[in-house]
Amino acid sequence: MNFIFLGPPGAGKGTLAAKVASAYNIPHISTGEIFRAAIKAKTPLGLKVQSIIDSGSLVSDDITVELVKERLTQSDAKAGFILDGFPRTIPQAEALEKIILIDSVVNFDIADNDVVKRLSGRRVCKSCGQNYHVEFMPPKKEGSCDACGADLYIRDDDKIEAISHRLEVYRNQTAPLIDFYKNKKLLTDIDARPSTEVILEEFEQKFPNS
Ligand code: AP5
Repeated sequence: MNFIFLGPPGAGKGTLAAKVASAYNIPHISTGEIFRAAIKAKTPLGLKVQSIIDSGSLVSDDITVELVKERLTQSDAKAGFILDGFPRTIPQAEALEKIILIDSVVNFDIADNDVVKRLSGRRVCKSCGQNYHVEFMPPKKEGSCDACGADLYIRDDDKIEAISHRLEVYRNQTAPLIDFYKNKKLLTDIDARPSTEVILEEFEQKFPNS
């Protein structure tokens, strides 16, 4: 199945996508992760997008579409994939229609105050990228990754000024995709408030793994 995970920042898209990718054996393609890896490696793309991402604005449609187009040609995406954080604008969604067919768009439904709690408590592993939350998903040892032992850090775009800007960007540029995909009868809403285990169960019921 070719999935899109749609929803506000901090809704839990990345956390669920990692679990679905492993359960369904399909790649989790996160445009945010691709950009962060480029920033870490100081590639020309990374240097170009760093300040945009830190502030919580969107990278241009042409850069992002090209990146996804290239990623979807890789062999692991042939049997299905999860696009997490793409598309994020109507022009990106229109461009995607010319690249590949999408089976389902999963819309993560969550209120702004929960988003703020999730993002302000998020901690990320510097080495393997594993996500934690100081309250909801704490690591076994404070400040260290359970998986690889590396230090955890706070993303620049998880600082409070950037969070409110990201929510505004989401409302203005990304939320219109809900109607875009509803009109195409591709949208399924998921309540993003429960635990990841409960959401995964709901997901597996809605999209049985054949
Ligand atoms: P991206 O990395 O995609 O950021 P985002 O969409 O803002 O999503 P997040 O990663 O912040 O949140 P999430 O929904 O994945 O939540 P998570 O699972 O981590 O993009 C970053 C930037 O890159 C953008 O701002 C933009 O600049 C650029 N970019 C990316 N794609 C682009 C595009 N298509 N076009 C243009 N620019 C683009 O969870 C959040 C926290 O909550 C974690 O701490 C987690 O532990 C916790 N949590 C998760 N689920 C639960 C749960 N069920 N219960 C309790 N806590 C939970």
